[in-house]
Amino acid sequence: MTSWIRGWMNQGEFTSLGGAGITSALILILLMRVLLPPGERRQIRLPVYALVGNLILVAIRSTTLIPPPLDRLLRVLALVFILVALGRAAFVLVVDWFFGQRLNRPIPKIFRDIVQALVFFGVAFLTLPLLGFEPGAVLTTSAVITAIIGLSLQETIGNLAAGLALQAEHPFVVGDWIRFDMDDRLTGRVTEINWRATKIRSVDDVEIIIPNGTLARAAIENFTQPTTVSRRAAVVQGPYEAPPLEVMDAILEGLRGCPGVLEHPAPEVQLRSYEDSGIEYWAKYSIADYGRRFRIGSDVRTRIWYSFHRRGISIPFPIRDVRHHEMGHMEDVDQARALAERRRVLDTVDFLTGIPEAVREELAQRSRKALYAPDEVIVRRGDSGSDFFVITSGDVRVMGGGGGEGGPPREWEVARLGPGQFFGEMSLLTGEPRSATVVAHTPCTVHAIGHADLRGLLEMDPGLAEEFAEVLSRRKAELAHRREEVPAGGKAEEEEAGELLARIKSFFSL
Ligand code: CMP
Repeated sequence: MTSWIRGWMNQGEFTSLGGAGITSALILILLMRVLLPPGERRQIRLPVYALVGNLILVAIRSTTLIPPPLDRLLRVLALVFILVALGRAAFVLVVDWFFGQRLNRPIPKIFRDIVQALVFFGVAFLTLPLLGFEPGAVLTTSAVITAIIGLSLQETIGNLAAGLALQAEHPFVVGDWIRFDMDDRLTGRVTEINWRATKIRSVDDVEIIIPNGTLARAAIENFTQPTTVSRRAAVVQGPYEAPPLEVMDAILEGLRGCPGVLEHPAPEVQLRSYEDSGIEYWAKYSIADYGRRFRIGSDVRTRIWYSFHRRGISIPFPIRDVRHHEMGHMEDVDQARALAERRRVLDTVDFLTGIPEAVREELAQRSRKALYAPDEVIVRRGDSGSDFFVITSGDVRVMGGGGGEGGPPREWEVARLGPGQFFGEMSLLTGEPRSATVVAHTPCTVHAIGHADLRGLLEMDPGLAEEFAEVLSRRKAELAHRREEVPAGGKAEEEEAGELLARIKSFFSL
């Protein structure tokens, strides 16, 4: 190669070697035209321009008489042009066409850039000595120049090394969605990794260029690898009046089946905090297409709005000023609404249908509505009790118990009660401790009635005491039976009911 280059400078060999160079360049350019796919053909431009440059110089030299120093320069330039044409054409054919086809994927830009740069450096190293420059000698003999070049290249070389490390380590590849330094603005799809920087395109279609050195030092989140699935959370506020379990159910309904939301991992709702204007929930869901995260997030919030609306759940907003002026009126309206609801609920309870309208009204006013989440204990066995409960929605489990003396206490389900049924009457009617633990099985609503109100009820409707006594004796028998405490020849249920009735009457001084 070197002798070929030296030969180039001898007038005699210049023409023949030049001819060989031009012929080779032409062949390589033709090969590029044939082998490269149409989209890649613009790569032919540089070798063609370099070849044309070379031909122009050769033509000038052959037609005009040029003084020797200028002639030498033209020859070197012609050499540079032909080497560039050959180097570039060979590079594109080997790297892009040959390896590109073998690997079945585009060669990373950073490697292409480095090989390309080496080719051009090679050309410079071969041709500069012909003009009297020794690049190697310049670098090694002048400490000042070496230091200047070293310092100015410090960052560039750092970026280059970091870029190579990124390529080798593969924390991301072109096409991945990444977030850099936990910063939402620095989030995008990787479009290019070159020798100096990595380019990402954000959802707003803005190109962000991050130097490789910076990228290598930062925390990088990859939303495409190792899986394309990523978890998202939408913050939703629900009103304080609506039971959390109901709101959570409404949010889940909105999440399920929403376009873009995956079934697995399943969506989930968490109660996050109690805020000024409402209760804050996190609707958590998984998506497979990170690029559509905002679109999917918008669909999720839209669906949740509809789900809330269907169930009459309002999305809270700060209303403090408005309430300040209208408080009295609002309170009246709220109270009237709550009373009407309690009345409607008590009307559905069988054993209260016999009592006069006025008593039911009174009862509605005095009863307290209480909501329970699943597995919450409403009354506990052994506690003293002063309330009687009517279930208006949901189910409860009645848990009888035994053991405790020496062995661990045991509990078992003796009954399940639902809307319209009642519990807690035993302690209230007889003054004894709670005979069983009652636990909410599903989310449930109960209306609690105190001792004094029950007394009023019993006075109004004496038949009610008998009804209670019957239920009470039956439940007691069931509890005892489950505990296997039924003594042989135990009292008959009617006898027990008669005794209980007498106790109820004396307890309530009827
Ligand atoms: P009290 O004893 O006040 O508190 C526990 C309640 O569980 C009890 O009143 C009854 O209302 C209820 N209970 C007890 N045993 C049964 C049963 N066998 N079936 C239904 N309810 C029961």
